[in-house]
Amino acid sequence: MARGRFITLEGPEGAGKSTHLALLAERLRAAGVPVLTTREPGGTRLGEAVRALLQYDAAGEAPTPTAELLLFLACRAQLMDEVIRPALERGEWVLSDRFCDSTFAYQGYGRGMDLAELKALNRFATHAWKPDLTVLLDIPEEESRARVAGRGRADRFEREQDAFHRRVAEGFRALAKGSARILRIDSTGAREETARAIWAAVETLLQKERDHDA
Ligand SMILES: Nc1ncnc2c1ncn2[C@@H]1O[C@H](COP(=O)(O)OP(=O)(O)O)[C@@H](O)[C@H]1O
Ligand SMILES: [Mg+2]
Repeated sequence: MARGRFITLEGPEGAGKSTHLALLAERLRAAGVPVLTTREPGGTRLGEAVRALLQYDAAGEAPTPTAELLLFLACRAQLMDEVIRPALERGEWVLSDRFCDSTFAYQGYGRGMDLAELKALNRFATHAWKPDLTVLLDIPEEESRARVAGRGRADRFEREQDAFHRRVAEGFRALAKGSARILRIDSTGAREETARAIWAAVETLLQKERDHDA
């Protein structure tokens, strides 16, 4: 059986990652594709425990920027080895709500860490496995703020200053510009419109695989 495909959804808070991950999973399953969905940080028991440390200072102490980065990478290493790689090898398609580009956007552009260094560390954590396709859901900063305003208790990232969020959003756009793997899709319009644009890209990937298998 052919190896599955690995698709990640990225973008700022409220961009629609969780919404479109669920819609895409449904659509792929309807097309007969076995799908595994996951999220970062999290997706494993270890990862979910670390998520609480990263988002809500569950240890009673905020991680330093360096510790924060390494905690994210520890989650990713566990997720890659325990969940993503085995699923891809079984022929399943894996959809992840956030992955490496969030590290580049938040820790790189947001916190000002060196991108080349982050990429090298990420390669180490993932054994150089990369998404086949990354969808960057793009919304203006004001829209992101408005969409998360109605949610529950803000996490450590949501509480960051506007300037941080601006750097992250610009970072995502710069990453998309510099990479053929990342497709930027506007997520301000109707949900169905965004879903259609995502499906068009994923369908191309699916068609390629089916042509290859035929
Ligand atoms: N085009 C769109 N795509 C996805 N969500 C949208 C869109 N327009 C408005 N929304 C709203 O934005 C919010 C997105 O939330 P969510 O999917 O949880 O985002 P994220 O997981 O990126 O934080 C939802 O309340 C959704 O109804
Ligand atoms: Mg979400």
